[in-house]
Amino acid sequence: MSTPPSAHAFLVLLLLVLAGAVIASAENNKDCHPSDKAALLAVKSAFGNQSHFASWTPSTPCCDWHDITCNDAGRVIILLFFEDVNLTGTIPDAISGLTELLVLNLYYLPAISGPIPKGIAKLSKLTSLSISLTSVSGPIPSFLGALTKLNDLTLSSNSLTGTIPASLAGLRYLDTIDLRNNRLTGTIPPLFYNSKSPIISYLLLSNNHLSGSIPTEFAAVGFQFIDLSHNALTGDASVFFGRTKELESINLSHNALSFDLSSVEFPEEMQAMDASYNAIRGGIPAQVANVTNLRQFNVSYNKLCGQVPAALARLDVYNFQHNKCLCGAPLPDPCKK
Ligand SMILES: *[C@@H]1O[C@H](CO)[C@@H](O)[C@H](O)[C@H]1NC(C)=O
Ligand SMILES: *[C@@H]1O[C@H](CO)[C@@H](O)[C@H](O)[C@H]1NC(C)=O
Ligand SMILES: *[C@@H]1O[C@H](CO)[C@@H](O)[C@H](O)[C@H]1NC(C)=O
Ligand SMILES: *[C@@H]1O[C@H](CO)[C@@H](O)[C@H](O)[C@H]1NC(C)=O
Ligand SMILES: *[C@@H]1O[C@H](CO)[C@@H](O)[C@H](O)[C@H]1NC(C)=O
Repeated sequence: MSTPPSAHAFLVLLLLVLAGAVIASAENNKDCHPSDKAALLAVKSAFGNQSHFASWTPSTPCCDWHDITCNDAGRVIILLFFEDVNLTGTIPDAISGLTELLVLNLYYLPAISGPIPKGIAKLSKLTSLSISLTSVSGPIPSFLGALTKLNDLTLSSNSLTGTIPASLAGLRYLDTIDLRNNRLTGTIPPLFYNSKSPIISYLLLSNNHLSGSIPTEFAAVGFQFIDLSHNALTGDASVFFGRTKELESINLSHNALSFDLSSVEFPEEMQAMDASYNAIRGGIPAQVANVTNLRQFNVSYNKLCGQVPAALARLDVYNFQHNKCLCGAPLPDPCKK
């Protein structure tokens, strides 16, 4: 689906803009708060003073060090380790000393391994935690539930195992949950349903080993971009649908979902739906004609029956192939009168 404007891409863009602002004010030569400086030097030391940290020299103002953004008060608010194949080791617990940190982003560091350290739970002001394209392994720790201000939790493309901890349900400002491309198991916990007006922009859990059914509580959540593809989910996914929902794009493909599509009302804002490779039964509701911006609609490899609504006849035949008894254009099989 027109790559759900990747959470990363957006965040990286934001960070570059922020970084630009910092570069513009780099002449300030500001030293950061002594406790931040001590924490940064402890992080550097924990990494064995690798060449990545060449700019982190105590004699220079630490707000000018590579990877760091300070606020006006000289507190380190952003730490971004970006694309370094040479940086090796584990995420140091010493990171917990950066108590004013708002954004922690580790992106494309394939030689960073080991677990998510406990010290991260002390970064109570974090709004964005992103660890992506690393070799970080072990569980998604339940202590992340202590980061109550988080609105972006991105842990995609690592080697994480275990279940999604129920403690994340306490994160009531979460707007982006991106746990794609790991080896997570167990069920999807009924996160977020206790929030007052829950809107989640991104729920991205694809390419894991998640099983069980989709929490019925999700019916009360307004998701915009959903990708649950390539898991082992079963049961009913109709909770995501509804005529007035904000849903723009949903990918359920390659699961074992089985529910009756006939009674689903598609969100009128929906642009893409991929429900291929499941065991969905019933027919395609005629109301799909009212989804005016629908670009992609793939229900191939299911157990659907009945006529393809005329509004979908313009789509390629492979979006409808391999069902039980779907008929009518674009399929070659005419519907029996
Ligand atoms: C849905 O996900 C599957 C597997 O991850 C992918 O192959 C497919 O292209 C996705 N569908 C759309 C419409 O993006
Ligand atoms: C890193 O450098 C600091 C300061 O020069 C030194 O005290 C520390 O022992 C070094 N650590 C390693 C692992 O080399
Ligand atoms: C990584 O190390 C290699 C070999 O020492 C070097 O050529 C390369 O420039 C380094 N890359 C980065 C991003 O530092
Ligand atoms: C499409 O929407 C219109 C206006 O809301 C409604 O009257 C009509 O019944 C809908 N069509 C279908 C097929 O649901
Ligand atoms: C389903 O069809 C869409 C095009 O409508 C395509 O982008 C997508 O990759 C297909 N899904 C799978 C799993 O092949």
